[in-house]
Amino acid sequence: MDGFHDKAVLITGGGGGIGRATALAFAHAGARVMLGDVDIAAAEETARLVTAAGGEAHVLQCDVAEPAQVEALVQTTLDRLGRLDCAVNNAGIEASQEGLARLPLATWERTLAVNLSGVFYCMRAEITAMRASGGGAIVNMASALGLVGFVGAAAYVAAKHGVIGLTKTAALEYATRGIRVNAVCPGFIATPMLDRAGVTADPERTAMIAELHAMRRLGRPEEIAGAVLYLCSDAASFVTGEALVADGGYTAR
Ligand SMILES: NC(=O)c1ccc[n+]([C@@H]2O[C@H](COP(=O)([O-])OP(=O)(O)OC[C@H]3O[C@@H](n4cnc5c(N)ncnc54)[C@H](O)[C@@H]3O)[C@@H](O)[C@H]2O)c1
Repeated sequence: MDGFHDKAVLITGGGGGIGRATALAFAHAGARVMLGDVDIAAAEETARLVTAAGGEAHVLQCDVAEPAQVEALVQTTLDRLGRLDCAVNNAGIEASQEGLARLPLATWERTLAVNLSGVFYCMRAEITAMRASGGGAIVNMASALGLVGFVGAAAYVAAKHGVIGLTKTAALEYATRGIRVNAVCPGFIATPMLDRAGVTADPERTAMIAELHAMRRLGRPEEIAGAVLYLCSDAASFVTGEALVADGGYTAR
């Protein structure tokens, strides 16, 4: 996709599967990227790949559950890139797989802190920066599990439903001020997150999860990057408050 020449793009969780694919897609489209990630080595590897592809990338270590670190990330983006045109609030952690009654309180709190409050802290700082420069586009990484429940994922599902609510509300509040706010709802995507959840190493579990999708396969990170770039592009100039499903038919059933 073209149209991002010289645009300044911030991506949280830029070291991970979807974040990395999104950074590379933006770089190929001509954008300059700022990568925030709690795992600085992973973000640096993404930056190396972006640079090797001829793009410009900057990194900063940031835990999105820490508002002060998020403020510093957005300020560093402004310092390094001069402005903020697009922001992809993608950092997230996986479901812990315990049933609700056995879910440790600390797991609940950390999942909500990263996957929901983190998006709020990011949008708060990003909207302030975008208002100063006349507008922009924000994409929050929700999930198909922001639309339906899933056994063993209470905190994750609650957080992702919350991300969609935050997205719609921010979209309404800033619609006339040049800021579009949308979400993407991926199905199961083959990334390190699914590796850690024990899915990709186990062919039977992979097949079982794949079967949940009408397309009978997992998604690829690049397929989510495509949805993100569309929502950030001028092609989506009349799109705001949308939770765009990219789930191989998972929720169509
Ligand atoms: N993989 C899937 O099946 C899937 C499906 C739907 C939605 N998602 C969402 O997509 C997003 C990206 O997931 P992924 O599959 O690429 O996972 P991933 O684990 O490959 O990448 C996530 C990245 O976020 C970073 N991160 C984690 N906690 C952070 C924090 N507190 N602050 C900053 N960075 C942090 C990690 O270090 C990692 O680089 C997440 O929000 C996830 O919930 C993933």
